[in-house]
Amino acid sequence: MKIGVVGAGLMGGEIALVFALEGFEVLLYDRDDAALQRGVVRLDALLDKGVARGIYTAEAKAEALGRIVPVTDIARFSACDLVSEAVFEALDVKREVLTALDAICKPGCLLTSNTSTLPISTLSAALAPSRRPAFIGAHFFSPVSRMALVEVIPSFDTTPETSARVVGILQRIGKTPILVKDVAGFAVNRLLHAMLIEAIKLVEEGVASPEDLDTACRLGLGHPIGPFALMDAVSSGLCLQVQQILHDAYGERFRPPALLKQRVAAGLVGGAGRPGWTRASIMGPAKAQAGR
Ligand SMILES: NC(=O)c1ccc[n+]([C@@H]2O[C@H](COP(=O)([O-])OP(=O)(O)OC[C@H]3O[C@@H](n4cnc5c(N)ncnc54)[C@H](O)[C@@H]3O)[C@@H](O)[C@H]2O)c1
Repeated sequence: MKIGVVGAGLMGGEIALVFALEGFEVLLYDRDDAALQRGVVRLDALLDKGVARGIYTAEAKAEALGRIVPVTDIARFSACDLVSEAVFEALDVKREVLTALDAICKPGCLLTSNTSTLPISTLSAALAPSRRPAFIGAHFFSPVSRMALVEVIPSFDTTPETSARVVGILQRIGKTPILVKDVAGFAVNRLLHAMLIEAIKLVEEGVASPEDLDTACRLGLGHPIGPFALMDAVSSGLCLQVQQILHDAYGERFRPPALLKQRVAAGLVGGAGRPGWTRASIMGPAKAQAGR
């Protein structure tokens, strides 16, 4: 099977990588040539870290990179059997990409979207009716090379055969897929944001500090990372965006807390060394640890 990945950013690059590491040939496309080059450089550095930690051999690294072919013409995707779309989270951008894939891909090619928040049935409407049965959500988690879960989300028109084939392919690349209905936030973001909203409310009420609540989740609930460190890693701005979508869909229980809105408006969003809820967001986890 030949795989195609559209969008060489944080998610698309690593989606390409997990397929390549399992022996699939992957075409990686981005409309921005510089982003495509950056994506390949990032994968090279990621694999280097894996080699240094003994996760891959130098030969496995070279073979995996050799299987990822960066392409600047999406027409090359006519050879693909499965295409994963991982472009910006904007309906118009994703519609444009799906319309292009519709015209290019061979009949029977499986089309998947990595959207976190857009309804799969809405995206499906960008495709010709004959394509829709082979289109499905395949929502990977970041960092894709480390997170095993993939939410698999059929649309109204996806056939059970497509779901079964995509689940089988994800299992072949070492992922653990779960089938989820096409609802806002799917399953994982609903669970996660219910917890993040409650964590912020605990801070608003002065019950405990962000640091202590992170400690509580790590040492009391066995979570690998606390809610505030997680918000800093993905950025509070993105969390607020998701909560606004969940609030529109489900009402009061997902209303974004006032403190989160205030902090985002003040630029305290975390991510990429910017100030956030925790010291680690500005110093990096290792330095924050050493500074304690
Ligand atoms: N970042 C996360 O933690 C995360 C987790 C799960 C799912 N997602 C979803 O994955 C998708 C990608 O997110 P990301 O974080 O990798 O974004 P990103 O901004 O890192 O990368 C997006 C890439 O898509 C490219 N792109 C944009 N429009 C394009 C087009 N028309 N054709 C080709 N390439 C195009 C951009 O140049 C960019 O390189 C989004 O739908 C997002 O919601 C993200």
